[in-house]
Amino acid sequence: MSADIYHILSKIHWISVLIFLLLYIYKLVLLIINKLGDLDRFSKKFRIPESIISVIFLLTGGLLLINTGNTSNFLWVKIGLVFISIPLGIIGFKKHNKVLGVLCILLIVASYGMAEINKNITKKELKIVLQSIPAPKVEPTSTKDTLQNEQIKKEITEYGKQLYTAACINCHGENGDLGKSGAKNLKMSSLSETEKKRIITKGKGVMPGYSSLSEAQVQAIIEYIATLKK
Ligand code: HEC
Repeated sequence: MSADIYHILSKIHWISVLIFLLLYIYKLVLLIINKLGDLDRFSKKFRIPESIISVIFLLTGGLLLINTGNTSNFLWVKIGLVFISIPLGIIGFKKHNKVLGVLCILLIVASYGMAEINKNITKKELKIVLQSIPAPKVEPTSTKDTLQNEQIKKEITEYGKQLYTAACINCHGENGDLGKSGAKNLKMSSLSETEKKRIITKGKGVMPGYSSLSEAQVQAIIEYIATLKK
């Protein structure tokens, strides 16, 4: 899936989740202040738009899920929470059960929080993993010893491969062309080295920035990516 389509899908997903949440919060307010007649009228009036919104939100969520490079358990917990919350809401509002209504909204909010916590944890874990990969001790020199320089270059590329495998493979894949989460095909990239470095450290669209990478690490990754083209 291309980066643009992924981007548009995630926008639609978030907008539909937000509308869904607002509808449910409004219903919850009516339920809590005991305006049960209003609640039933509102539910009846918005039954079809609500169904359309929930289909859009589940469908876009499903498409994003198929195309995501994020394979953590947190994601499954998040999806589990969403799937539990919807029937709770439907029953809660129908039967005028406040506890179920509150629980439904809490679960939806928790599933959002889950995704945010997950982002921070993976970032911290990744930082530790990246730091634990030993860097080659030497830099290529300008000496005439090409054989030695070849060897050093090989070591740097190998270092880059390990960093790439730890940080980038989920979306870009082993060969750079997996395209998960809308990731661009690195084999086909026409960007300059400087532009690539900027995207790697600062991120772009769905791709997070890797600001904790040192210059030498980014350089090693660039060297490795260049070998994917062949
Ligand atoms: C969460 C998924 C994800 C991860 C992880 C990820 N990327 Fe990306 N990458 C993307 C997406 C999406 C784009 C396209 C961004 C856009 O143009 O909107 C992209 C674009 C790029 C580009 C620009 C390619 C071009 O021609 O435009 C480079 C270079 C790149 N990524 C390198 C990396 C490297 C190196 C890593 C690991 C340090 C990495 N990416 C990790 C998703 C990811």
